Amino acid sequence: MNTTRKAYRASLLHSLGDPADLGIDASYQYISDGVLVVENGHIAAMGEAAVLLPTLGADTPVEHFENALITPGFVDTHIHLPQTGMIGAYGEQLLDWLNTYTFPCERQFADKAHADDVAARFVAELLRNGTTTALVFGSVHPESVDALFEACERHNLRMIAGKVMMDRNAPDYLTDTAQTGYEQSKALIERWHGKGRLQYAVTPRFAPTSTPEQLTAAGRLLAEHEGVYLHTHLSENQQEIEWVKALFPEQDGYLDVYDHYGLLGERSVFAHGVHLCEDECARLAQTGSALAFCPTSNLFLGSGLFNLPMAERHNVKVGLGTDVGAGTSFSILQTLNEAYKVMQLQGARLHPFKSLYLATLGGARALSLGDRVGRLAPGYEADFLVLDLKATPLLSYRLAQCRDIAETLFVLMTLGDDRVVQHTFAAGHRVHSR
Ligand code: GUN
Ligand code: ZN
Repeated sequence: MNTTRKAYRASLLHSLGDPADLGIDASYQYISDGVLVVENGHIAAMGEAAVLLPTLGADTPVEHFENALITPGFVDTHIHLPQTGMIGAYGEQLLDWLNTYTFPCERQFADKAHADDVAARFVAELLRNGTTTALVFGSVHPESVDALFEACERHNLRMIAGKVMMDRNAPDYLTDTAQTGYEQSKALIERWHGKGRLQYAVTPRFAPTSTPEQLTAAGRLLAEHEGVYLHTHLSENQQEIEWVKALFPEQDGYLDVYDHYGLLGERSVFAHGVHLCEDECARLAQTGSALAFCPTSNLFLGSGLFNLPMAERHNVKVGLGTDVGAGTSFSILQTLNEAYKVMQLQGARLHPFKSLYLATLGGARALSLGDRVGRLAPGYEADFLVLDLKATPLLSYRLAQCRDIAETLFVLMTLGDDRVVQHTFAAGHRVHSR
């Protein structure tokens, strides 16, 4: 008897590619009565229930979810573990927000017991919101990354994280040096990168808090370790951008600072990019670098409106970021709700199938993981969600009025949050149930 093979019956929906490339209709697959077959942590088959069920042996258990939609797990391409305790901090824009709220909160991660406690809450929160893969900022303390990876390892999650490198323009209690930042990052890479489904991201906080020596060290880490990521912030706030110009007068703008130190590439992810110019978008695309679009954060800190159509025109890879704690929700559905409004304020539309793409396959591609997660296709890792279409009275009533899956999806993204995530599966195992 085959004990690891299981089948799940519900409606199935996943993205096949970017609607900007394929057109809306060819960008997704929807099966109203479908079956997903999972074996050894991977998707073995998917298709119409009427076709697939008769092919399954009697030894394959089938779990049937009524009024439910199975989708791939969500991908969050930018979030901060040590800001979990300070979401929704009042009144400031980026630079004052960092000094007033963020740095004191991150300071607590010098204590491993504190880091363990918050990491457990953080991972539980990701899973209850249906996020199965995230690119995560730790604090400057290596303990923060150990705590996070230990928590992720318990659920065999596909996660990417790194310790912050920050050797100037921050309180003494929160800085490393070019040398210690290099050594600590290197030790973490050796301990964690490629262990199970965990991967490491070299994480200079942003250009203003790293000296040229530290940015050089970050470039060295990338050059010395194949497959590690680069994760930082870029062009989020006007004051920040002016500051970068003053600190790096030799460079031709913010992106060029990172470019100068060899930090652009296929595994580089830059959060925000709210105030980029056309040339910078072209350079991001040319180097295969990705942007994390963080609408709740950009609105909350008053940073500005991300120009998704411009990124799309240049073929820049884009994923969604919650950017907790500047972002105000762990929910990718709620992040899409705000993303739609950010587009509305610019006279543009965000189609629900583009949103689905950004939340799943597009995010996975931004993290160079598009061949492993983000789709419900055979061979993909079995990270998927069961969404409850009757999660709340209003949702249930509103969805009953929808005429097709596009409308249903859009309403789910407008009204939905952690309450609609009935089950979260990672590598074929149930890791959250409501
Ligand atoms: N820029 C540098 N650090 C941060 C941070 O922690 N959050 C956000 N949103 N922007 C940053
Ligand atoms: Zn951030």
